[in-house]
Formats: sequence, C-alpha cells, structure tokens
Amino acid sequence: MQKVDILQIGNFLSDAQKKLEENFNLHSMGEGEDKARFLKEAGPKIVGIAAGSGRPAISAEVMGNLPNLKIVAGFGVGYDDIDVVHAANHGVTVANTPGVLDEEVADTALSLLLATTRRIPQADRFLRSGKWLKESFPLTSTLRNRKAGIVGLGRIGKAIARRLQAFGVSISYHGRNRQTGVEFPYYQSIRELAEAVDILIMIIPGGKETYHAVNADVLRALGPDGILINVARGTVVDEAALVEALRSNIILAAGLDVFEKEPQVPEELIALDNVVLTPHVGSATLHTRNAMGNLVVDNLTAFFSGKAPITPVPETPWRG
Ligand code: NAP
Ligand code: 8YV
Repeated sequence: MQKVDILQIGNFLSDAQKKLEENFNLHSMGEGEDKARFLKEAGPKIVGIAAGSGRPAISAEVMGNLPNLKIVAGFGVGYDDIDVVHAANHGVTVANTPGVLDEEVADTALSLLLATTRRIPQADRFLRSGKWLKESFPLTSTLRNRKAGIVGLGRIGKAIARRLQAFGVSISYHGRNRQTGVEFPYYQSIRELAEAVDILIMIIPGGKETYHAVNADVLRALGPDGILINVARGTVVDEAALVEALRSNIILAAGLDVFEKEPQVPEELIALDNVVLTPHVGSATLHTRNAMGNLVVDNLTAFFSGKAPITPVPETPWRG
C-alpha cells in the first residue's frame, strides 16, 4: 500500500495510533493552529480522515475543505455526527465500526437495567453514608414478571435480547420494519410498544429521524412502573420531558448512558434519585476500544490497498 495522507480528528488508543502513524502520513491540526493555513498547505493532500473519539462533527464544511477526500473512517458504530448525505453526494466513502462492540454495549445496557431496577448506586451511597447502621435499605422494584421493549433490534439490540432471555424477561421490539425470522412480538410504533411493556430499552441510531422518539406521550404510555434505559444517543429522548416524568412519577426510573448535550448533563437529572447516570461508557473497555480502533485502521488499509473497506455504512456502499 502506498503511504497516503490522512487527517486525524479526535483520539485513538496507543495501538491504533501507532498503526496510523506507521502506515500513513498522518496530519492533525494542533490546538490554536491557523486553520486556513493548515488547510491551504495540507488540505489538497488529504485523501482520508481517521475520525477518533471525542471528535467534533465531520460536517459538510469539514469535508468540503478537503478537495481530494475519499474516505472517512469513523471510530464507533454510530455515525450520526458524520454528514453521510454530503459524503455520498461527493463520492466519499464512510466506514464505521459495527459488530466488535455488540457484547460490550449489551453488557452496559443490562448493567444499567439491573442498577436502575435494584437501585444499586443508591444502595452503595446508603451504605457509605452510614445509614445502614440505623435502618435497612428500602425494598426495590424487580425484574420478575417484567416485559421489555427493545427499540432497535439490530446487532446490539439482539445481544441485549439474548441477555434478557437469560433473566426470564419477556421481549417485544420496534424498528422501522418487522424482521423475518424474529419471533418476538413487533410493534409498529414506539408509543404502542411502550403501552405494552414496562421496560423500554433504546438502542437505535441518533440523528434527525429518531430525534425525541421518546417524548412525554411515550413516557406516559410506559407508565408508573416503567423503566427507561437509553444506551443509544441522547437525542432520541426528550430530556426535559424525561425529567418531568421522573419528577412526577409518570415513570418509575431511568438508566442513561447518553445525553442530549454531552458531556453536559442537566442539573435537574443529576438531582433526581430515581435515575442512574453513566458517562457514555457503552463500549468503554480496553478490549473493545482496541478492537474498534483496529477496525478503523483496517478500513483505511483495505481502502487504500484498492479493496473494499471492511465495514462501509449502507449510505456509501463500496462500488469498487
Ligand atoms: P444496527 O445493527 O444498525 O441496529 C439498529 C437498529 O435500529 C435496527 O434494528 C434498525 O431496524 C433500527 N432503526 C434504525 N433506524 C430506525 C428508526 N428511524 N426508527 C426505528 N428503528 C430504527 O446498529 P447497532 O450496531 O445495534 O447500534 C445501534 C446504535 O447504538 C448506534 O447507532 C449508536 O448510536 C448506539 N450505540 C451506543 C453506544 C454507547 O456507548 N452508548 C455504543 C454503541 C452504539 P430497522 O432498519 O428495521 O428500522
Ligand atoms: C463510542 C458509541 O463511545 O460506537 C458508538 O456509536 O457511541 C461508542 O461506542 C463512541 O463512538 C466513541 O466516540
């Protein structure tokens, strides 16, 4: 493979970083660097973007500054922050990192579900504060006889379903399409699914199509025993409506790994006792983050060796 010029935006763990540096002429824009000068000098040479974690959006403007751009290889399965419409219209391939994080994110979803249902962080705080010396921790809700609705029965949704089956929780799902070969009951809308279950697990892509898919109406349908788990994107839940629903016991509790304006989390959510909050750690283990970083490198390496990238997104299929 010829050594080509790649722009790094965001961060990679040392394994992937080393491979990027070894295999490509890697550019990155230093903090405070003159953007116009950088783009004038390096812009025309750049043929690929390695988009790591903590990156700003890869917008049409970012891509438009790189006239010879051919591929954006993103770290993460979600690519709602990459303008794929612009990419597709300008012959730029976009790749993501599906598959290698399914089990990890499903573990996170189940951890949040158990922690939320059994109030594990609250019990930990109770013990540490010395309250156990005076009284018992109050009894909690349970997973027994519960019905879960999975919104987005894709790769991660199915890994979540496998775990829920082991816990004896019944499963239904919603997606844009009913899936052939899937026996779980299908609901055509999130509202109808929420009505039928008492646990709602969000694991769909973010972006315009799913913006505030969970709103006040859906939360009312989920009901007073209802538990909402969001490991998808913060934008899929109307956070203000959720705060109101948690405050006024319209639902029982929520477990959230993602937020509308990360890393900002509304004080109103932090103040509530019936919500468990984690800082977008769905895939955050060394094992899985290394696998994701290596897949970014493999996508770029395959592409610049004249082969199909391993995991192009459906909006920009490989055309050879
Ligand atoms: P996937 O395999 O593509 O599954 C996505 C599922 O969502 C599909 O079943 C799809 O079914 C459904 N879906 C897509 N658009 C929809 C819409 N507009 N309305 C309703 N359902 C829709 O993706 P995945 O690998 O499981 O990942 C799912 C998402 O999880 C990612 O996009 C990412 O945002 C999020 N995620 C979060 C973390 C974290 O750290 N918290 C980590 C990884 C991923 P249909 O096509 O039938 O609609
Ligand atoms: C990553 C994720 O934390 O894969 C995704 O879509 O949300 C997470 O695995 C994120 O992409 C890292 O920036």
